[in-house]
Amino acid sequence: MFSLRQTLLATSVFSLLLPCLHAQPTTVTVQAGAVGKAISPDLVGIFFEDLSHAADGGLYAELIQNRSFDYSAADHNGWTSLTAWQLVQRDGGEGSVTIETADPLNTINSSYAVLTVAKAGSGSSASVGLQNEGFDGIAVKAGDRYNLSLFARQLTGSAAPLTVRLETKTGALLAEARLPVPSADWKKASAILVPSATDVDARLVVLATGPGKLALDMVSLFPEKTFHNHPNGLRPDLAQVIADLKPKFMRFPGGCLVHGDGLDNIYHWKDTIGPVEQRKGQSNIWHYHQSVGLGYFEYFQFCEDIGAKPLPVVAAGVCCQNSNYLVTHKYGIGQLGLPMEKMPAYVQEVLDLIEYANGPVTSTWGAKRAAAGHPEPFGLQYLGVGNEDKISPVFEERFRMIYDAVKAKHPEITVIGTVGPNPEGEDYEKGWKFANELHVPMVDEHCYKSPQWFWNNLQRYDAYDRSKSQVYLGEWAAHDDKRLSTLRSAIAEAAYLTSLERNADIVHFASYAPLLAKRNHTDWNPNLIFFSNTEVFPTINYHVQQLFSVNSGDTYLTTTVGHAATPVTVAASTVRDSKTGDLILKLVNGANVAKPLRIELAGAKKIPAAAFKTVLAYPNAMETNERVVQPQSSTMTVAPTFDYEAPANSLTVICLKSR
Ligand code: AHR
Repeated sequence: MFSLRQTLLATSVFSLLLPCLHAQPTTVTVQAGAVGKAISPDLVGIFFEDLSHAADGGLYAELIQNRSFDYSAADHNGWTSLTAWQLVQRDGGEGSVTIETADPLNTINSSYAVLTVAKAGSGSSASVGLQNEGFDGIAVKAGDRYNLSLFARQLTGSAAPLTVRLETKTGALLAEARLPVPSADWKKASAILVPSATDVDARLVVLATGPGKLALDMVSLFPEKTFHNHPNGLRPDLAQVIADLKPKFMRFPGGCLVHGDGLDNIYHWKDTIGPVEQRKGQSNIWHYHQSVGLGYFEYFQFCEDIGAKPLPVVAAGVCCQNSNYLVTHKYGIGQLGLPMEKMPAYVQEVLDLIEYANGPVTSTWGAKRAAAGHPEPFGLQYLGVGNEDKISPVFEERFRMIYDAVKAKHPEITVIGTVGPNPEGEDYEKGWKFANELHVPMVDEHCYKSPQWFWNNLQRYDAYDRSKSQVYLGEWAAHDDKRLSTLRSAIAEAAYLTSLERNADIVHFASYAPLLAKRNHTDWNPNLIFFSNTEVFPTINYHVQQLFSVNSGDTYLTTTVGHAATPVTVAASTVRDSKTGDLILKLVNGANVAKPLRIELAGAKKIPAAAFKTVLAYPNAMETNERVVQPQSSTMTVAPTFDYEAPANSLTVICLKSR
């Protein structure tokens, strides 16, 4: 016999277990037989900004750092024209290196290195030279081909051939080539280097073999293997991981980098096209140097390669309101507007960008696109003007000038305005008011919040007025504790994405931000994809973006979740892809326990017996290791009504194939 105490204990343990054993399933009802609501087929895209070395030292495949000797303290405290370079004196050779600016290669990049060989030395190795350490070393693969090029000019002394060597950190030879004797004028020389061994930390050494003074500029080492084999192209592994997201659009070149740290730092697209040695690099608002080797042509080309609609963003004639922060230590007081007399030229610059992208080859800027190898238009449809600017009279006056000019000359272009850095507050309110006054077709909202904020705001866009501007959620991410990317943040993003799908009649685009960050160089956290010189680490959050992107549709089917309790931990959405007829259901469980769900496909006419299921789940919501949380795919049986247990902390995508 049990004692009363034992019975009570057993009863209370049982009642604790009860919710798990006999929990009533939460009903998810999909109006599967309904026509549904037309939504943006382009909801999920990417946001690219050169921060955290996303471009230089990252996606842009150049291996030489500071290739044109332009680094300075303005880029980064302590940097000079010789940062990443080192003088080499071997086998008795003696010499020095200086930076000069007289008679440069071109006036845009005026500084270059002068190597003075005082004593050539003797021995098998040539004597005096310059060594580049790359971006945290140079990673090369045995047998791959690397294009070495440089501009050289013999200033004094007897000209002799140059030797270029790829070496290990300790000086062992990996590849070597001789370049022709430099002339008295700037001349480009090139060679192919094929390393005999793989090395993740190699160096490039340029050696002069005769006494005298030699000028060097634009020293480049470029892998022949780039994404889609474009010269001056992109790192294939990184580009492929981005391509695998199947982004419907790509925003570039930022972010704060666009409006810049002060008026002189505004990003000007014209500085970023043409031969790389003629492009105008400048300091990056994230405190390093941007070579702009990855410039507007390469951005457009990448969009085309990955099937993403290009979405360039230009400054609205004002610089970032946080400009000069390192001096003032105050946010929000640094906005300045271009002087009014400069605005007509700036407005023209914006119009010229549209011509560069879309104009005929007979137009001034279309001809430049054709000269770069792309006579066909790039098909630009969208243009962002401004990036989370402070909505001030200075901003409004300049935005209006740009907006009116684009609207008048290019009514085919959808201009995207901006409504401040937060999803609420003064700039958000003022930005929306201003956009409504001007009837701006779309506005860019930014939203970096906690995972719980996203769960609490799943209804945000349900209430948006459909007669007003469409929304581009241009920068968003759930920031978990210590700004980590966790499974919890990824699942909150998945829940929010179900609400974006439901509202994709008004939310046209959404892009997680930032996209890329180099390990040990992160200016911002969290990020969607981390990388080193040789590896790529997509986060758990990456899989969420990918699952929504590759499982997108153009029609939303009303999906209701019968919520039993608060806080809400279950979210769902359903889309149909009218091209394939597939019906795709997303189910999100943000609880730490599995949730029994009953799915009702109301009014469905024909349901395939089997469906494809992909599940991203893990018991520990705070998991950050992307290698342990991976999507798993399988098939499952479905019926007009079927039960499904959503694992703890999970996103499940169920695709009912039409054929
Ligand atoms: O995504 C990182 C930064 O966040 C962007 O540059 C800026 O627009 C925002 O504040």
